[in-house]
Amino acid sequence: MNATTPLMETGLAVCAPLNSDNLNGGQKLAVKYFSTAMILFIAQLLFGLLAALQFIWPNFLFDTLDFSVNRMVHINAMVVWMLYGFIGAVYWFLEEESGIEIVGLKLGNIAYWVLTGAVTIVVLVYLLVQTGPGNDTTRWFINEGREYIEAPRWADIGIVAVMLVFFYNVAATFSKGRWSGISGVLTLDLVALAGLYLAGMFYSTNITVDQYWWWWVIHLWVEATWEVLVGCIMAWSLMKLIGARRQIVQTWLYIEVALMFGSGILGLGHHYFWIGTPEYWLTIGGFFSALEPIPLVAMVVHSVYDAGVHKFRSTNHPALAWIIAHTFGNFLGAGVWGFMHTLPQINLYTHGTQWSASHGHLAFFGAYATIIIAFFYLAIQRWRGGVWMGEGLQDSGWKWKWAMGLLNLGVMGMTVALLIAGYEQSFIERAVEGSTWGGYFAGQNHPWFQQAMNWRLVFGVMTFAGAILLVWDLLTIGACESREELVIEEH
Ligand code: HEM
Ligand code: HEM
Ligand SMILES: [Fe+2]
Repeated sequence: MNATTPLMETGLAVCAPLNSDNLNGGQKLAVKYFSTAMILFIAQLLFGLLAALQFIWPNFLFDTLDFSVNRMVHINAMVVWMLYGFIGAVYWFLEEESGIEIVGLKLGNIAYWVLTGAVTIVVLVYLLVQTGPGNDTTRWFINEGREYIEAPRWADIGIVAVMLVFFYNVAATFSKGRWSGISGVLTLDLVALAGLYLAGMFYSTNITVDQYWWWWVIHLWVEATWEVLVGCIMAWSLMKLIGARRQIVQTWLYIEVALMFGSGILGLGHHYFWIGTPEYWLTIGGFFSALEPIPLVAMVVHSVYDAGVHKFRSTNHPALAWIIAHTFGNFLGAGVWGFMHTLPQINLYTHGTQWSASHGHLAFFGAYATIIIAFFYLAIQRWRGGVWMGEGLQDSGWKWKWAMGLLNLGVMGMTVALLIAGYEQSFIERAVEGSTWGGYFAGQNHPWFQQAMNWRLVFGVMTFAGAILLVWDLLTIGACESREELVIEEH
């Protein structure tokens, strides 16, 4: 059948509703993960907006929903929706890649509900109980107090159990079906990802020791295991979207993984500069983390080169555009914005200022939000039975383009506003005032800082508008498409 034969002529209806019969078992589970991820993404943004408002009107919701709570929900929702996105993406490909049905699909479904139930309870406790006496009961049932992974201990244990089920499904399905280069890398990476979480599960009253291990989760997750995971996901998507050759994407993947682990593991040292660890970390952290942008450049070359070789012909334009946004976002947010403050001589001035928040926003959005959004588009296409999503989309595809524009401009705008605030803080508070308490306030009260906070809010609203448009687009794109998806052969 010709790729542009209308579905009408093949006897199918013109309108293509979401229909789970179009999905294999893993994909059915994946769309559950994706839907929940999208809801949590919107929640993340709402709590970010509340926290941003409180920077400008400190009394807003004071004592009802304090800044500390909003900020915590904002970044916890982020970590969780991204994990949902990654798990979804792996389940999405699992059956196709292994050639067989998932071995423990039922278990996988149970795990999804357990995880979602736990997340709901944790968020409700964050919002309704908020704080405790600061003893073991608090740690077990309310909040563990470590940024990004504040979830109480009972939930930690639940999360580990759910991750074990996920890992079992991945490893056992590939073992029973077939292995490939990508699935091998992925499986080893998941061992590391789950293992590192354990480093955030014990507690020490020595703040240096506590931070030392906490960074094993935070840094080693986002700069090593998550990067490798998105490398695998990108490799699969490029084969699927533009027909890139497996041999080529796999070779790239091996190079990227070697470079990422080579630089990212000891790059950990850039968080050990000022927490009371030995001085050799200044040299180790500075040197290795300065190398971290190299694999990110490789990823840009990889995707743009591959897409160029295939003349940017793709089965799913929005997904390909988001994959390319991912490689650039990863390079800019993590690579360039990270590099800017990673040498100890510079970090001495920028540490813990809005500079870090500027980098944090662009890196998490650029490296991870983008590639998960690409998957939402892949999923919608199949869920509708494989409709056309290449060139010449209905309504000229204005919704996905505007959503993409608003989201990227919004986040970039926030990033630049925060960078200006961070620059001002480093200059006034650190360089001029010598990091004194008075210097801190001089930095906070400077007009450049305050204007930057206003601009962050403006661009935050733009980001939010983009996310709402994204939801609308995902619910409608291809809904009344009569053409079948483009079939691209590997070449
Ligand atoms: C996708 C990958 C990355 C993500 C998601 C990410 C995210 C973040 C976040 C959220 C923080 C703030 C942590 C806190 O709360 O203290 C941070 C700190 C930092 N990041 Fe990254 N990062 C990534 C990659 C990189 C790379 C490749 C470099 C270096 C080339 C880098 C350099 C730094 C440095 C030096 C800090 C410490 C800032 C300070 O002293 O306050 N990051 N990163
Ligand atoms: C509506 C848009 C958003 C607004 C208004 C917003 C606002 C905020 C605010 C006020 C904070 C606390 C900063 C501080 O403590 O000084 C924060 C932290 C953070 N946000 Fe957002 N945010 C938004 C979107 C995002 C997005 C899209 C991401 C990533 C995908 C993100 C990731 C983060 C991270 C990683 C932190 C912690 C940074 C650090 O530790 O330095 N935010 N955000
Ligand atoms: Fe780091």
